[in-house]
Amino acid sequence: MKKYNVAILGATGAVGQEFLRLIEERNFPFAELKLLASKRSAGKIINFMGKDYTVEEATDASFEGVQIALFAGGAASKQFAPAAVKAGAVVIDNSSAFRMDPEVPLVVPEVNPEAIKEHKGIIANPNCSTIIMMMAVKPLRDLSKIKRIVVSTYQAVSGGGKEAMAELEQQVDDIVAGKEPVANILPGAKFPKHYQIAFNLIPQIDVFYDNLYTKEEMKMVNET
Ligand SMILES: NC(=O)c1ccc[n+]([C@@H]2O[C@H](COP(=O)([O-])OP(=O)(O)OC[C@H]3O[C@@H](n4cnc5c(N)ncnc54)[C@H](OP(=O)(O)O)[C@@H]3O)[C@@H](O)[C@H]2O)c1
Repeated sequence: MKKYNVAILGATGAVGQEFLRLIEERNFPFAELKLLASKRSAGKIINFMGKDYTVEEATDASFEGVQIALFAGGAASKQFAPAAVKAGAVVIDNSSAFRMDPEVPLVVPEVNPEAIKEHKGIIANPNCSTIIMMMAVKPLRDLSKIKRIVVSTYQAVSGGGKEAMAELEQQVDDIVAGKEPVANILPGAKFPKHYQIAFNLIPQIDVFYDNLYTKEEMKMVNET
């Protein structure tokens, strides 16, 4: 079987770690594996399938020889996708950077796999709630036109990334120890005020738009 040189941008993050888990679980045929992150994590050792890999700081030069680049580095996608494509890699991007770009196919493999053929170097996938919704809606859409979808989501703290998960753990530890929990992360970095998430539910994801839907809600509308 052909083996591919793979790079993971954001390898230290919540999604990057899932990429690694899936590569192992599915026995993905990789030859070289490059683990990329920001300067903060450069030098960190990640043991994967019995081998130690050193996390490298992502730069434009990181993608030489890479054939498949799995991107989960948030805003870093916009910065590094052009260099990765130029180096000959196919970028599969989990961030929102290219989702609404008409030049970039937005693909859920179980829904529109044929769209992959249109790629010009970058393939995007939708917001996680959108993907799950589409998995259920696609077979219904095949049977009949859909006029309206009413959606409620109950999303895990993991959707906020590794810092949000660390905050939840810390707050639980503090509460159990009888200390006042500190909130610095959720509901999102751009919010003026943060709320305790431990033993709580925050009924809002991301900022509100003028139409009073949040950015996360509008992602589900637009990406669908
Ligand atoms: N969490 C989810 O359920 C989920 C689902 C679907 C899509 N996404 C999307 O996937 C992306 C990653 O999300 P996440 O939850 O995995 O976030 P995360 O846990 O915060 O991880 C972010 C990763 O990106 C790296 N990074 C940040 N800035 C960088 C830079 N300038 N250059 C290189 N690497 C950089 C971080 O490296 P350091 O270790 O150096 O900080 C870390 O590895 C986001 O766009 C998110 O919206 C998330």
